Amino acid sequence: MGYKFFKDILGYEETLFKERRVFDLDYIPEAFIHRDAQMQSIALCLIPALKGGRAMNALIVGPSATGKTTALKFRFKEIEEESRDVVCVHINCQITYTKFGVFSQIYRKLLGHTPPETGVPFSKIYEAIFRRLIRDGKSLVVALDDMNYLFYGRLGNEILYDILRAHESFPEAKTSVFGIVSDVSMSLNFDPRVNSIFSYREIFFQPYSMNEIYDILKNRAKMGFFPGVIEDELIEKIAGYAFEHGDLRVGIELLRVSGIIAEAEASRSICERYVEKAYGSSKLVSMKLLISSLSSNEKALLRLIADSEEAISGNIYQKFKETAGVSYTKFYRMIEKLENLKFIETYQLTPGRGRSRRIVLKHQKEDLLRLL
Ligand SMILES: Nc1ncnc2c1ncn2[C@@H]1O[C@H](COP(=O)(O)OP(=O)(O)O)[C@@H](O)[C@H]1O
Ligand SMILES: [Mg+2]
Repeated sequence: MGYKFFKDILGYEETLFKERRVFDLDYIPEAFIHRDAQMQSIALCLIPALKGGRAMNALIVGPSATGKTTALKFRFKEIEEESRDVVCVHINCQITYTKFGVFSQIYRKLLGHTPPETGVPFSKIYEAIFRRLIRDGKSLVVALDDMNYLFYGRLGNEILYDILRAHESFPEAKTSVFGIVSDVSMSLNFDPRVNSIFSYREIFFQPYSMNEIYDILKNRAKMGFFPGVIEDELIEKIAGYAFEHGDLRVGIELLRVSGIIAEAEASRSICERYVEKAYGSSKLVSMKLLISSLSSNEKALLRLIADSEEAISGNIYQKFKETAGVSYTKFYRMIEKLENLKFIETYQLTPGRGRSRRIVLKHQKEDLLRLL
């Protein structure tokens, strides 16, 4: 076996990848390690639903790429396999951020088809959801993943409220919410109405240590590459880069891109040179993902800011209005969102210059413009 076996496979398949999708960032890994405490907490929240009650609400908090989404998907899958009395809906709020969007996903999960987009008042859709839920005797758990995106658009409170207050109109309805937030610094500003009904258990996903990142990447490499493609020392080096960036995804992306470069060079294994070469683009993976969550208008605004010598909000608005034609309020919210997502920072100008603020980029201008 060993070398000969490997050589044969490589000659036949002409690839270093045993399974390419292992390096996709939304791939659900078979081995999900170093998250036992969090998995346990999530399970505890779900248990009441298994017993015919409603699940406990949860607020899942932690920086990007700490396994929040993966942990939840694991648990949701498990519980739905285990029990017919629980229905879990996972909503990615980066993609779905309107009230109709959120409820239409809940509707689809329960009724098996999407509601009509027009001509039906929201109250009808709302009613259909909870009538069905009660008819089927199920308990509903809604995960609002990256929930902060609902709050940039000011809809967060309304959506939370509508899910959690369902039992007021439909007394037997059992509903709960798992909110997931990556933006640790952002306060979510629940309004008093929501505060009074949204009591939750908080579950923290702390950043991974260097050793934990190494373990995870090593598993990933083992699943994704043929044996012998990458040495442990190189995985260590990659783990170091990921740790430095505080982002596991940089490591996963480095594995993937180094593998592609090695293939392009017709090499049987990944060497340090390829990792270095891959680093230039891989280190930007988090920024790339973040940019892909922006609307075209938001991207245009960010480009305009990045391109300006000195960015003062008033001037930027004047320029932006010409092409995008948005109101000042809308513009201001976009700025706020870009600031929340840490693309920019804004500072008060010296007194006497009105409401205008100085806008400063938080990333390398060249990197940003390249990705935009
Ligand atoms: N403990 C872990 N074990 C294996 N893979 C992990 C682990 N934590 C995160 N990952 C991987 O890292 C990437 C980001 O994880 P994700 O669950 O999307 O993080 P978050 O939702 O916190 O941003 C995914 O590809 C996921 O498979
Ligand atoms: Mg996530």
